[in-house]
Amino acid sequence: MTDIAPRFPESFLWGGATAANQIEGAYAEGGKGLSIQDVTPQGIMFDRVDGPTADNLKLEAIDFYHRYAEDIALFAEMGFKVFRFSIAWSRIFPLGDEETPNEEGLAFYDRVLDELEKHGIEPLITLSHYETPLHLAEKYDGWVNRDLIGFYERYARTCFESYGDRVKYWLTFNEINSVLHIPFGSGGINTPKSELSEQDLYQAIHHELVASARVTRVAHEINPAIKVGCMVIAMPIYPLTTDPDDVVAVMNADHANLMFSDVHTRGEYPGYAKRFFRDKGVTLNITDQDVEDLKNTVDFVSFSYYMSICETADPSVKADGAGNIMGGVPNPRLASSEWGWQIDPQGLRVILNQFWDRWQKPLFIVENGIGAKDRLVEVDGVKTVEDDYRIAYLNDHLLQVAEAIEDGVDLLGYTMWGPIDLVSASTAQMSKRYGFIYVDRNDDGTGSLERYKKKSYHWYADVIRTHGASLQA
Ligand code: BG6
Repeated sequence: MTDIAPRFPESFLWGGATAANQIEGAYAEGGKGLSIQDVTPQGIMFDRVDGPTADNLKLEAIDFYHRYAEDIALFAEMGFKVFRFSIAWSRIFPLGDEETPNEEGLAFYDRVLDELEKHGIEPLITLSHYETPLHLAEKYDGWVNRDLIGFYERYARTCFESYGDRVKYWLTFNEINSVLHIPFGSGGINTPKSELSEQDLYQAIHHELVASARVTRVAHEINPAIKVGCMVIAMPIYPLTTDPDDVVAVMNADHANLMFSDVHTRGEYPGYAKRFFRDKGVTLNITDQDVEDLKNTVDFVSFSYYMSICETADPSVKADGAGNIMGGVPNPRLASSEWGWQIDPQGLRVILNQFWDRWQKPLFIVENGIGAKDRLVEVDGVKTVEDDYRIAYLNDHLLQVAEAIEDGVDLLGYTMWGPIDLVSASTAQMSKRYGFIYVDRNDDGTGSLERYKKKSYHWYADVIRTHGASLQA
């Protein structure tokens, strides 16, 4: 599968990634307000309910809010250089539109940062990971409303001023292109998807892009050493056949996703986007200030990578493959995870090259992993999970990352998704496990919340310690 002996640079940032709503719990503690996660008990792909309900596993999640010190110590023991986590916007601004922040919320993340510093782990913070304060969704219809730019700027400024001297790497919006598929989950847009016009959807996207660019400027003003990145779902799209119509269909599908990072990296809308808006009859309200704001381009591009999909112009072919937020036409040549996500390690090398060639900005893989059903067993009196399938998935993907580095891609690091089992975003299950660390919690909410090291825990520690030399070609 690979011709090279994998060797990653000494400075490579190895680690893991999480999101507040999937780990913290304590949804109503410390002055936190409700977020859109507190009303989506089935996961962000599903309709919202009226308020928090007992079946919502995210309300307690894995109780990182109280157990962060223990969890960070476990990451440190694995040799983590970086830990990606998000700040819950509604911990800092419980409603989202207040003038002053919630000091108790700020203090919590200070404690988390203290702990990371103690272990020499670099923080990587996502400002908004599917966690729009619920009040902003209900009162303003989320990002459809231009006022969100100001509220987000105030929130981001507060974070940069509070932590900007101890946090170098920041991401503005998790998987910003997901708003095309989950307007409520990603953009806090309360209007049901079936009733949302394309005009409003793209105006909302425009507001997010402006907000992202504006806070990039704010971050640099507060501390020029800060590096701000965008974050997108990366999914290579292959033509289903060699028919040129399929290739054009791929080009169009690529454009729909690439537009987000094109704006983030170039500081303006690309030509194909202008045509797309014209063809759709969408007329964006773009102010002179927006044009100026957009010029603040990101320092790096980060992305999640789980799978690739196919595309075809043939309307009789069903795009019914499961996937990370967006599915697609399944690839007949690839195997799938237990949740139907197709496994394609080489796609990661392809996307790394494509992104590097296109933007020439440093890249950061901030999510990659496999959700699987684990079985806790006892080996020599110690509880563990023999997760060879997870090791195989990560091993094969990391070999392709090494290939891409060899290809000349400038890559800052790799944060595997969900280093500790957490609540799934799409299905809100505990049983869809990603971690190196098993958390004793079940889909019905029972469990002791005890943590156990899986086989992959020791495997990843070796990968980090050997700078990838222990990977098996
Ligand atoms: C990404 C999200 O979509 O994929 C994460 O940024 C999410 O929040 C991850 O958890 C894996 O998806 P899932 O649905 O298996 O949790």
